[in-house]
Formats: sequence, structure tokens, C-alpha cells
Amino acid sequence: MCGIVGYIGKNDALPVIINALKMLEYRGYDSAGVAVFDGKTIRIVKRKGKIRELEQELSSKALKGTVGIGHTRWATHGRPDDINAHPHRCGPIVLVHNGIVENYLELKEKLQRENGNSFCSETDTEVIACLISSKYRGNLVEAVLEAVKELKGSYALVVMSEKEPEKIVAYRKDSPLILGVGDGEYFVASDIPALLPYTNRVVALEDDECAVLKRDGYLLLKNGREFSKEPKVVHWSTAMADEAGYRHIMQKEIFEQPKAVADTLNAYYSAEGEFGLFEESFSQKLIEAERIRLVACGTSYYACMVSRYWFDRFSRLPVDVDIASEFRYRDLHIDKRDLCIFVSQSGETADTLAALRLCNSSGATTVGVCNVMESTIARESQAVVYTLAGPEIGVASTKAFTTQLAVLFLMAVYMGWIREHLSKDEVKSMCNPLVYIPGLMEEVLRLDGSLRDLARVYMKKEHFLYLGRYLNYPIALEGALKLKEISYIHAEGYAAGEMKHGPIALIDEQMPVVVVAPPDKVYEKIRSNIEEVKARSGIVIAFNPKFNTELEKICYHIF
Ligand code: M6R
Repeated sequence: MCGIVGYIGKNDALPVIINALKMLEYRGYDSAGVAVFDGKTIRIVKRKGKIRELEQELSSKALKGTVGIGHTRWATHGRPDDINAHPHRCGPIVLVHNGIVENYLELKEKLQRENGNSFCSETDTEVIACLISSKYRGNLVEAVLEAVKELKGSYALVVMSEKEPEKIVAYRKDSPLILGVGDGEYFVASDIPALLPYTNRVVALEDDECAVLKRDGYLLLKNGREFSKEPKVVHWSTAMADEAGYRHIMQKEIFEQPKAVADTLNAYYSAEGEFGLFEESFSQKLIEAERIRLVACGTSYYACMVSRYWFDRFSRLPVDVDIASEFRYRDLHIDKRDLCIFVSQSGETADTLAALRLCNSSGATTVGVCNVMESTIARESQAVVYTLAGPEIGVASTKAFTTQLAVLFLMAVYMGWIREHLSKDEVKSMCNPLVYIPGLMEEVLRLDGSLRDLARVYMKKEHFLYLGRYLNYPIALEGALKLKEISYIHAEGYAAGEMKHGPIALIDEQMPVVVVAPPDKVYEKIRSNIEEVKARSGIVIAFNPKFNTELEKICYHIF
């Protein structure tokens, strides 16, 4: 995923841009570039590879100036190389872009035919630069606003003109852009962490909003009209977004889970059985709901799958769980009495957002469960409950997942309470023990060393199976997703009862099978599944919270 940064102020732009781009490195990228106005011209330096390679290149160039933009690119149109890297230039226009312009080929041909433009890159971004350039008559804002009328697709644009170097113009359509308001300096970035070293006062742009950043302030435009929006304060800090002595950011985030879950639980539930999830007026809609729809992608989808069991049990309503990228292609009859819950760490996932918009336009009640304040899903949902995980910088979702589970559990019990299926005493007996969860998580984290040893034993394996039943079926899916994403080892998650319907054929003495086997209502069943694996000489690695001699006997490893 690409990252955008722009700066105008009193300081040297280059170190600010590089530093801010580094805060976005977690998003993954394959080239990076910067453009700085040096008092005469806008100078561009860009390189394939990592930011440190760009820095090496910059060390021999004195790129001095107080206005500039930067970008980390994840190749979509054209391979990752120096030429396709952003920023792109056409005439006086220099820009960086996130997103995809669907009609770029059509526009490219038109610009070639009508303006005689020639293009040096394979990107859609260079086409946007030339389109803006073709509209440019000395007013950058007007040229950008004219150009976007012809663009189809999603885009966040940050644009400079050599002829008006004292401003940066930003425009958002379906791709996030956040302004940072400093003290006599202004920033724009595709994500909040980039801004954290400089300011925590932010303004999130909405679709079709344009921002003009100058040295003495910023102005906002929509449909050609100026409007104002007060900056919001984000309670995140740079310290929350660095490695803090851990080997890498993901490890730090894994170890932050007990605190993140405790913060989240404390924010929305008190031992007296009181919830702080929703305004009273909004709760009425939950009372009137006739169906619950949970919609998300990836890990957030698995959190929804877990919570389905809780919503089934406590709300006693029909519950649907959908992958967001499939949701809008179903022939759904979304009703105004549907309660639709959208779960997203970033609050920016395009498919989840599209599903939310569909439900909003169908008159349903919508709730976002998001981690990023001021994110689009948070803003566009009728109510939002924030997971208080702090910034999740690692690509693999960890603490966001466990805090999502905390919020979804509380929401499910709350539904049971306001719909009068649970008494106050039942609510307390369900929720008060949650106070032990952070401590139990600490205990699990103490397995770190022995799990690392286990990982060394099996690191050369090419395939893993993850099995679970009931609540732990989606946990098995999530485990398999994590192994694929982080170790590049093929892993499949299965409902353990499904094994005999096919995947059992894969099990032999080479196959590690991770089984989540707590002493719950399906324990006997999952123990039988472990026996099936063992009968085929599979390597069973089981997780159980209590010492269990029975499992000790039949598993290779038990944690
Ligand atoms: O920000 P979101 O929660 O909407 O992201 C959805 C997925 O892309 C995300 O959960 C992804 O599956 C995880 N990063 C995997 O660890």
C-alpha cells in the first residue's frame, strides 16, 4: 500500500518528509520519492527500493526548501522502478497519488492526441499530472478541481505547481488523506502515524473534499465552496508507534495486548454492570433490531465470526456474518430494522466501507467498530465504538483483533441486556470475570520462549493445519492466516468436524496440526478429532488452558 506525505512550514521539508514516510513503512512499498521546492524549481529524487536507498541518493544532493511532498509506492501500474516511482511531473505540475485511476488509458490517449503529451512512466499517476497540467491556467486549485471531474476510480492526490510553490493542494476520493495542523506548519498524509512526530491535531478529509495548505493556514473546499472543520486531537503518540526495545513492531504489539484489552474493557464496562457503548437514544434502535449483520475483511472478519456465537446467544436475533468484498454482490434485502456492524482496525478498508455505504443508503442502523479515530468507517457509521488498541503499525493484526473481540463480546451482552434476555446479575456474571483476561493474556505471553523453540523445530515445514470447533473454529482460521501472512508457510484453518470430509487425506507424519482444545462444550468432540490426526501419525500441537493428562498422552506438544 502506498504512503503520502506533504509539508509546508518554517522548517526544512526534506527531513520532515523522510521521517514521516518512515512512519508509513509498515504499509509495505517498493520505491520511494520526494519533491522539494528549492526556491527556483521543484526538484524530484526517487528510487526503487527502501527509503534508506533514497536517503543514500539524497546524501549527494542538497535538496533544501520548506515545501515538499513524498511518497512510498506499492506498484500497481507498471513495475517497481525509478521511473514509475512517485512524485511524477508534467509541465509545472508535480504530484503524488494513492489509489487507482480506472480510466487512465482513455485519458492517456486523449492527452496524447489532443495535447501531444508523451509519457515516460507506465503509471496512471503521470496521466493525472498531465491532465492537471492541461487544465492549468495559473490557478492550481482550479486545475485540480477541473481535472478530478474526468477521473474515475479512487484517489488521494497531493499536488504542487512550480508556478505557485507556496501551496500544496490535496484532494480525496475513496482513499484516505489527513491534514496535520502544527504550529506555523501544515502537513498532509495518508495515515495518522506519519503525523505523530509533529502534531496530534488532525483534520480528516472526506470524499470530494479539497484542502489548500499554505504557510499561514489551510482552507477546505467542497463543490467549489469554502467550508471549515475544526481539527480533532488524536490521543496517540510517536512512542506508541515505535519498537520500544522489542525486536520488531509486531512483537511489541503482541505484548501490548493485555493493556489494550484492559483499556478497551474499562472504557465500556464497569463492575456495577453499566455499559458505556452507546447513547441512550441510539440504544433504542438496537432494541428494535430484527437482524444483526456483521461485515468485515480478513482478521476483522474472523473477529466477527467469533462474535456470531455471542450475538446468537445473547441477542437471540438471526445473525449473518459476511466477508465485506462479497457482501454487496449478494442479492440482499437490507431492512431498516437490520443492525449492521462493520469491524475494521484501519476504518479505511474499501470493501468494508462500500458495504457500510450500502447499508446506510438502505436505511439500516449502522455501527462501526474501528481502531483509528476519524477514519472513514468511523465517521460514516451512525455510531462508532473504538477499540482502544493504540496505533497498530504491524501489517499483521494482533492487538486490534483481541480488542475487537472485547468490544464485540460487550456489545453482544449489552444487546441481551437491553432486549431483556439477560438480568443485571447475569450481565455481571458474564462480564465481571473479563477483568481476569489481561492477566491470563500475560500468562500466555510467558510461553513466548517455548513457542519460539517450537517454531524452530517446525520452521521448514511447508504446510500446517489449524483446527478448532465452536468459538475456536474462527480462531483456527485466524491462526492459519497469521502463519501464512508472517511466515509464508501454507496453512489451512478448518472446523475440526469438517476434517473427515476431505482434509484428513492430507495428514501424515509430516503434517503439523495445531489444535485449539479448551475444556468447553465441544472438548470431547475435538479430542476425537485429535485421535483421528494421531491415527494418521500427524504431529499434534494442542492448546489447552489447564493441565490435561489425557491430551498429554495423545499430543506431540501441548501448551
Ligand atoms: O483495517 P481492517 O481491519 O479493515 O483490515 C482488514 C484486513 O485487511 C486485515 O484484518 C488483515 O487481514 C490483517 N492485517 C491480517 O493480519
